[in-house]
Amino acid sequence: MRIIVGISGGIAAYKIPFLIRLLKKNGADVKCIMTPSAKDFISPLVLSTLSNNPVGIDFWNKETGVWNNHVQYGEWADLLVIAPATANTISKMATGACDNLLLATYLSMRQKTLLVPAMDLDMYQHPTVKRNFEQLSSDGLHILPAESGELASGLFGEGRMAEPEMILKKIQEILDVKPLLLGKTILITAGPTHEAIDPVRFIGNNSSGKMGFALAKRALNLGAKVKLICGPTTCVLEHDSLEIIPVITADEMLFNVQAHWSTSDIGIFSAAVADYKPAKMEVEKIKKSDAPLQLTLVKNPDIVQWASNNKSAKQLTVGFALETNNESENALTKLLNKKMDIVILNSLNEKGAGFEKDTNKITIFDSKGATKIFNLKQKSEVAIDIFDHIIEYSK
Ligand code: C5P
Repeated sequence: MRIIVGISGGIAAYKIPFLIRLLKKNGADVKCIMTPSAKDFISPLVLSTLSNNPVGIDFWNKETGVWNNHVQYGEWADLLVIAPATANTISKMATGACDNLLLATYLSMRQKTLLVPAMDLDMYQHPTVKRNFEQLSSDGLHILPAESGELASGLFGEGRMAEPEMILKKIQEILDVKPLLLGKTILITAGPTHEAIDPVRFIGNNSSGKMGFALAKRALNLGAKVKLICGPTTCVLEHDSLEIIPVITADEMLFNVQAHWSTSDIGIFSAAVADYKPAKMEVEKIKKSDAPLQLTLVKNPDIVQWASNNKSAKQLTVGFALETNNESENALTKLLNKKMDIVILNSLNEKGAGFEKDTNKITIFDSKGATKIFNLKQKSEVAIDIFDHIIEYSK
């Protein structure tokens, strides 16, 4: 979860450090943006220390000379949570006003926004405020209503900001985050491997690593620690619970899997490991000539096979089968031969599925005899289906 917590100027801002700590504990990356008046209620230093990120207040930080780019904030976040949301900020959001960094970020958000209002009883009941809520709700915002109780003014009634635990629950509901893998470590291999022929050439394939990275993101959203051992890729992912171990060759991938396997609960082997490597790497660049060039290739180690041969009763191995013919039969043979618990078949015959694409169409087979066929989906959604199956299989 990448969360921006937007704080406007209300006394309920004192609860925000607790919210940030809860979010961090649940594996979220947090950035804070304050309206200028929020500084009167809570120190930016508290927020930057707890979130482990600089706090955005002005468009331009005159001390550091740094421009706070609202567009980048809007692209970065999975969710903007405005808490406390004051009547003033709510009214500006409802009309599209944009006179501070928080409002500009709201207008730049690619993903969803959650509004957590806090104000005094009579303000909360005012028809103008109610009208603004209706407007924002029809604009697609999520609103976590204020609770009833004692207010800072001494009045008693509706207007108290929801407690941090409730806000976290709502965030998890909106982002469909179920911490079902809390305490688990997931090892994932991803991307291609490159097997050097000489200092400038290699044997490789078109794997982009996108499926492996989508799996890593889903595992992190489910609360797991992830060790992502990946071959050369342009994919990027950052998270406090993520360790990325970049490798080039199949031998390096195997070495790192061997180093981390005993401390992992589940291994998902989505890497497109080169089946063969040159018997030896030439030290100097091979010179071109008119004569045919012969390379001697030797087989690479089978990484998932090694993990399956060395798994305890509690560990699971999940592999992929990329097939062009006799697809189900070949996938089931791999499940058996490589002693995997689950195999995910994806076919190169499916339009929109496979290497470098953002979509995939899979069929899942498992060693308990289950078969599940899925439609063509975004790889992020495919990752959700795969983890749903793994969790069900592990029960
Ligand atoms: O045999 P094939 O390459 O089709 O098997 C695919 C599955 O095996 C994938 O999960 C892949 O990551 C894994 N594999 C591996 N090491 C290899 C070859 C494949 O882990 N050398």
